[in-house]
Amino acid sequence: MESKLDKIYNLCLKRGIIFPTAEIYGSLSGFFDYGEIGLRIKQKLIKIWKRFFKEENFVEIEGNIILPRKVVEASGHLERFSDPITRCKKCKKIYRADNLIEDVLGIFVEGKSIEELNEIIKKNNIRCLECNGELEDVKEFNLMLKTFIGSLDAIDAYLRPETAQNIFVDFKRIAKAYRKKLPFGIIQIGYSFRNEISPRQFLIRMRSFTQAEIELFFNPSDEKCPIEKYLDIKIPILTREAQRKKEDKVEFFSIKELIEKNIVKSKWQAYFLAKEFIFFTEILNFPKEKLRFRHVLEEETPFYSAGNFDLEYYFDEIGWKEIVGNAYRTDYDLSTHMKHSKENLSFEGIIPHVVEPSFGIDRIILAIFFEKLREDRDWLWFDFPKEIAPYLIAVFPLVRNKEEIIKKAREVYEFLKKYFEDDVIFDVSDSIGKLYARADEIGIPYCITIDYQTLQDNTVTIRNRNTKEQIRVKIEEIPKILA
Ligand code: ATP
Ligand code: GLY
Repeated sequence: MESKLDKIYNLCLKRGIIFPTAEIYGSLSGFFDYGEIGLRIKQKLIKIWKRFFKEENFVEIEGNIILPRKVVEASGHLERFSDPITRCKKCKKIYRADNLIEDVLGIFVEGKSIEELNEIIKKNNIRCLECNGELEDVKEFNLMLKTFIGSLDAIDAYLRPETAQNIFVDFKRIAKAYRKKLPFGIIQIGYSFRNEISPRQFLIRMRSFTQAEIELFFNPSDEKCPIEKYLDIKIPILTREAQRKKEDKVEFFSIKELIEKNIVKSKWQAYFLAKEFIFFTEILNFPKEKLRFRHVLEEETPFYSAGNFDLEYYFDEIGWKEIVGNAYRTDYDLSTHMKHSKENLSFEGIIPHVVEPSFGIDRIILAIFFEKLREDRDWLWFDFPKEIAPYLIAVFPLVRNKEEIIKKAREVYEFLKKYFEDDVIFDVSDSIGKLYARADEIGIPYCITIDYQTLQDNTVTIRNRNTKEQIRVKIEEIPKILA
């Protein structure tokens, strides 16, 4: 039977929403291109993300995706941003060692050392899943993609593994030029690159993906965080204790409790956990039961962080996957860049601390697809909220062979564009029944049809995607009704 992921993937291919890069050459594992429909969904998601998360004292930048070696050397990524890898001695199949162990033994081993992983593999006699061959010793594999700049005098450079690094290296100029005072945020939305050992599950594990990151700079001895408004909000936490006991049950904590019990070590981090929960439950309407904040265990916390909370979403048939990472990066990054660059990165007399929410835009898009897919018609359709739907309105002529009707439909389309800009599309490529189905497939909320009666009395029908009901209205009233 086709899995939910396959259904979504196949619909994405069929409608050109998102599809593999360089498909005609057999594609490139872990790389995907967005067609117009996917791109519009992505742009709209970013728009509502910014509307919700970008605050008065935040500025946005667009840094370069290529960074000189010095930056990633200083940040620690060159030495430590790696995953454990192994290979079958016989058939040469490559595995990410921790994932292989997790798949075979069902135990959680993230954060274990190379030696420990080797031992587990030997002790449990884990062998190649394809040919049962013996596995090579586990090694570290750096996840950064490398390139070079220049000709005969070329220097090494790297595609950024996170957008955050631009923000740290640009910090001094931005803070000064934009006259910032602590606390303030710098945000960035753009591509990051990781040479993942086994890209899989469509948008979940890609090698090039879009992140939306906020670096919030603050003074740790006086955070000045407007947390009061969120103190009573309760959010689901998968505690470290529960994970150690191999329990899957979440506990709801208020933001106040999380701070008082010192589970979250910075008010700013608690602030963003609350905001994220509101964003996903109230703006995107995800059910609470499908979200949880996993308090990342000490041993798997990234090298730069004093505490991480992964916001996870439950993908049907797949399981819980991280969609937003929350790190308390302290003064780690500014301090290390200060040391390596010899530039003074202190500000208002201190090295500011940093809290970072890091959103994976593609994984969130996939989560939206999972959440909004409907299977109750002869065709699949998406129940996208209006703010996410690729287009708000589709305009169709009832028949394809009547010049007058097509002409009138074009007039209606032009009229609506004045109000809804490019959120309106015109389509005459199929019979009306098929056009409705195609509009449903990409989640367009309203279809407007021009028919014989329109020519008589200037009325059209508006079809509601969710109810399939149609109402007849005067053309000039459409903007008012749909607004
Ligand atoms: P995972 O444990 O799943 O590999 P991660 O811990 O490496 O994820 P982070 O480094 O915290 O992820 O990155 C922040 C966000 O960027 C993640 O929450 C996720 O949404 C997104 N992200 C990270 N790696 C990928 C990837 N390979 N493909 C798509 N999105 C990704
Ligand atoms: N900036 C956090 C991460 O990408 O892991």
